[in-house]
Amino acid sequence: MRVVTIDGPAGAGKSTVARMLAKRLSWRLLDTGAMYRAVTLAALRAEVNLESDAELGALAAGLHVELPPGSVKLNGEEVSGLIRGVELTRALRFVADSPSVRHCLVGWQRAFARDHNVVTEGRDQGTIVFPDAFRKYYLTASLEERARRRHAEYQGARERISLEALLADLRERDERDAARAIAPMKPAQDACVLDTTGLSLDEVVGRMEHDIRERLETA
Ligand code: DC
Repeated sequence: MRVVTIDGPAGAGKSTVARMLAKRLSWRLLDTGAMYRAVTLAALRAEVNLESDAELGALAAGLHVELPPGSVKLNGEEVSGLIRGVELTRALRFVADSPSVRHCLVGWQRAFARDHNVVTEGRDQGTIVFPDAFRKYYLTASLEERARRRHAEYQGARERISLEALLADLRERDERDAARAIAPMKPAQDACVLDTTGLSLDEVVGRMEHDIRERLETA
């Protein structure tokens, strides 16, 4: 099956772009951030020690996370409305930094792509999870633009956080994601790097779709 990977920092437009691209290609969407978020929700609920790789790994190994189209299920429960909050997002780093959790989730991600053509988005999809992907993209945008986009999303969801606090949160998360010892966020050597600052979603998705269709024709 074919895989298109989209990696990059928070707020670069990955989620929306990946969703639109998957729809246009009629491929399945794999939102790997949602997997990390669902595990974080489970860890907060179970009150496991967030500093303990062993505890987090054992928890993750016993979870059942599914991503049917448009939904995120944790042990059968619909949790898509519970995993995007500011507080949960701040706790994410423990889960994302845990080698045992990452090992487990890489397995889930590869299993997902076994039966479907997939557009996948995350931080390590082109570098670690799918090194042989059909096509790899790395989306970026300026920190200010990414913070503005996230701020608008939170306002839509009625979460209260100032633009300044979001900017600080984003900067901290980017630095952690990029400095992580295991699976750091970075473009794969063979990735196409797209700066989306000032570009509309349609322009970004249009360019990617054109590029992929051209490659599919010659593949
Ligand atoms: O894309 P997102 O904001 O939903 O991702 C949430 C966090 O999960 C992000 O801060 C880093 C982590 N993550 C990761 O480490 N590897 C991935 N493939 C996807 C997300």
